[in-house]
Amino acid sequence: MAAAAVDSGKRPSANGKAAATRSVSSSGMAAKSLPRLALVFLAALLYRQLQAPPPKVPGTPGGPPVTSSRIELRDGRRLAYHESGVPREQAKYKIVFMHGFDSCRYDALPVSPALAKELGIYLLSFDRPGYGESDPHPGRTERSIALDIEQLADALELGARFYVAGFSMGGEVMWSCLRYIPHRLSGVALLAPVGNFWWSGLPANVSRDAWDVQVPQDKWAVGVAHHAPWLTYWWNTQKMFPASSVIAFNPAIFSREDMAILPKFAYRPYAHQVRQQGEHESLHRDMMVSFGKWSWSPLELEDPFPNGEGKVHLWHGAEDLIVPVGLSRYISERLPWVRYHELPTAGHFFTLADGMPDAIVKSLLLGDD
Ligand SMILES: *[C@@H]1O[C@H](CO)[C@@H](O)[C@H](O)[C@H]1NC(C)=O
Repeated sequence: MAAAAVDSGKRPSANGKAAATRSVSSSGMAAKSLPRLALVFLAALLYRQLQAPPPKVPGTPGGPPVTSSRIELRDGRRLAYHESGVPREQAKYKIVFMHGFDSCRYDALPVSPALAKELGIYLLSFDRPGYGESDPHPGRTERSIALDIEQLADALELGARFYVAGFSMGGEVMWSCLRYIPHRLSGVALLAPVGNFWWSGLPANVSRDAWDVQVPQDKWAVGVAHHAPWLTYWWNTQKMFPASSVIAFNPAIFSREDMAILPKFAYRPYAHQVRQQGEHESLHRDMMVSFGKWSWSPLELEDPFPNGEGKVHLWHGAEDLIVPVGLSRYISERLPWVRYHELPTAGHFFTLADGMPDAIVKSLLLGDD
């Protein structure tokens, strides 16, 4: 087009023939650039579909309100936390609890007030970045979350060492604590921890058997999060194929015992807070980190308590349909310092079963199995 304009500017006295040629050639160019334009337009449309909307940051205009106590991290992000049990200053045991997927600080292990009082337990839980009222952290990794826990513990002056416990994806975070802050830990409880099928050192048949426990739509959702993380937002929001069954709360993933426990899960008056920053910043990013490409494997970890000054407990239900038991079973066989508790009839949500929170905490703190 520009060339044609220059051309006509050079020869203002062009005759009819030349003008006709020009008009043919410029319409030819339009015909050529039309598909190209359409392509650019389609790419832009596609890009917009793949691109998640920006997170709604708590406490900013248009964002959700801040109702909880928060601490500020070294990089300026804030973490929202929730305390329960006995007051920090009176506590004999301090536990930092890490919630699972699609949950928040209020989804802490429901230790009974009686046991908390009897043993002197202080329980601290917090929203993972992007959940509830903690700032988003688009750069979050399997390492950054362990350092967040350490900074939170220091901000609240929990002391040189503290206990950590985590459920489901929060259980997976416990491996990160063992990798990055083992010197800060008094004891660890992994509860139905999510496993990453691509961790190095896992035999192919162990990964495959665990993989096959998942319903087909979760194989797809997890596969996308690992192989094409940039597609995660689109995959879990498009309507052509079923997205993650965990996000969609599909009943197919609840075991017999889970079905009985479910009513307890139904009463969560704070549920609206969980995804309030947007599903991408909370759920999708969780999947991208959890099933992403890790540079290390739990199988490489060493006993954090070689002198027996603490214990690492791993609990998993054999009938867990959300997080297959296979990886936990294999890892605990390979790491003799992991005290493995397999619950033969339990599903995923045994942490809410009657008496279980207290049993888990007693075993963590008192070491009587
Ligand atoms: C995987 O294969 C090994 C040996 O080939 C076998 O001993 C083990 O039981 C298998 N594990 C599973 C979970 O299939």
